[in-house]
Amino acid sequence: MNKLKIGIVGCGKQAPKHISGLLSATNAKVSIVVADLSQDAARDLAEKFDVELADSVDSLFEMADIDAIDVCTPVPFHYDLCLRSMRLGKHIFCEKPLVTSLEQAQELERVRAEQDVVGMVGYLYRFAPMLSSFKGYLANKAFSSSFGEPLVANFRIGGRGSHQVWKHKKETGGGAINEMLVHMLDLAMWYFGPPDTLDVLYCDQLLPSRIIGGELAEVDAEDIVQVKLTTQSGVLVNIQADMLTPSFTQFVEVQGTKGTFCGSIQPTYNSYLFLEEKFEDFNKGMNKLESKPSNLFEIQMGQFVDSIIDRNNSVSSTIEDSVNLIRVMDQINTHSYEH
Ligand SMILES: NC(=O)c1ccc[n+]([C@@H]2O[C@H](COP(=O)([O-])OP(=O)(O)OC[C@H]3O[C@@H](n4cnc5c(N)ncnc54)[C@H](O)[C@@H]3O)[C@@H](O)[C@H]2O)c1
Repeated sequence: MNKLKIGIVGCGKQAPKHISGLLSATNAKVSIVVADLSQDAARDLAEKFDVELADSVDSLFEMADIDAIDVCTPVPFHYDLCLRSMRLGKHIFCEKPLVTSLEQAQELERVRAEQDVVGMVGYLYRFAPMLSSFKGYLANKAFSSSFGEPLVANFRIGGRGSHQVWKHKKETGGGAINEMLVHMLDLAMWYFGPPDTLDVLYCDQLLPSRIIGGELAEVDAEDIVQVKLTTQSGVLVNIQADMLTPSFTQFVEVQGTKGTFCGSIQPTYNSYLFLEEKFEDFNKGMNKLESKPSNLFEIQMGQFVDSIIDRNNSVSSTIEDSVNLIRVMDQINTHSYEH
């Protein structure tokens, strides 16, 4: 089989992580071409990884030998770029959030199914072994007799996001809801299914002026949000997300009727599993969980490539998942205006 060729559109902060993930997942058995509205950004990235440079974004779309397009631009460009790619019969990977409108997400899924291409969205936390192993346990009957039924879960994510102004402005799809909360909402729905009731406890902006890229900027998007929901499966979920925390933090805490899971993608976090009964290699009582070093981008991009090769769209984070997620995001955005 010829090398798979992947076009990366948008050469900012995420693109290099995708490229190194793609190269290490496939043992460099993909070829990559990059494009950006800024030709300088694209050239720098092409030189850094010694990959092909497109003359422009349009010329990348004109390359007939490209199998897939990986969209790494700010959110407002995701819809047009994904639609254009899939209409050309290309598989797509799109950074999160896919889009911010339910109609657009539904249209993307319709076109994906019609074109029979793979569509994946970058919900990276699903690929952290610490967090994906708990998803596996939840599907294991033996685990539920040791852990009991999940009752309450707290999801926390916070970081400063001092890299680009667009991430802090409403009109460019920025703010704590789109940038941060969406990751934990995706994880919560992946674990426990869709919400039955939802309430936005607070949604506010505490730092309207902040240093971004070394300069003082005036911004208008919310920088802190807390959401409470009950899932249809009966779990009470709290999610707190912010763009204030100086040192990035992330963790998940789940209380079951007979056990506790505390896990994070951060190795410094005290991750553990408490069980009232033994389960597989875990003892009754406290079990410290080791966070093994892993390249989440390698796992994520590897799954995308495997799915293209197997032609089965069996990715973990589908466009259809994003349709369901955006339906809930819409409710959060509607409620957040009331605050
Ligand atoms: N999965 C994660 O953990 C994670 C983390 C950070 C960002 N993201 C997401 O990744 C995406 C990109 O974020 P980033 O931090 O790389 O942004 P960035 O601002 O660093 O880079 C975006 C790049 O896209 C280019 N661009 C803008 N519009 C374009 C267009 N129409 N066509 C081609 N290029 C265009 C810009 O010139 C810039 O180089 C966003 O959706 C963001 O939410 C995900």
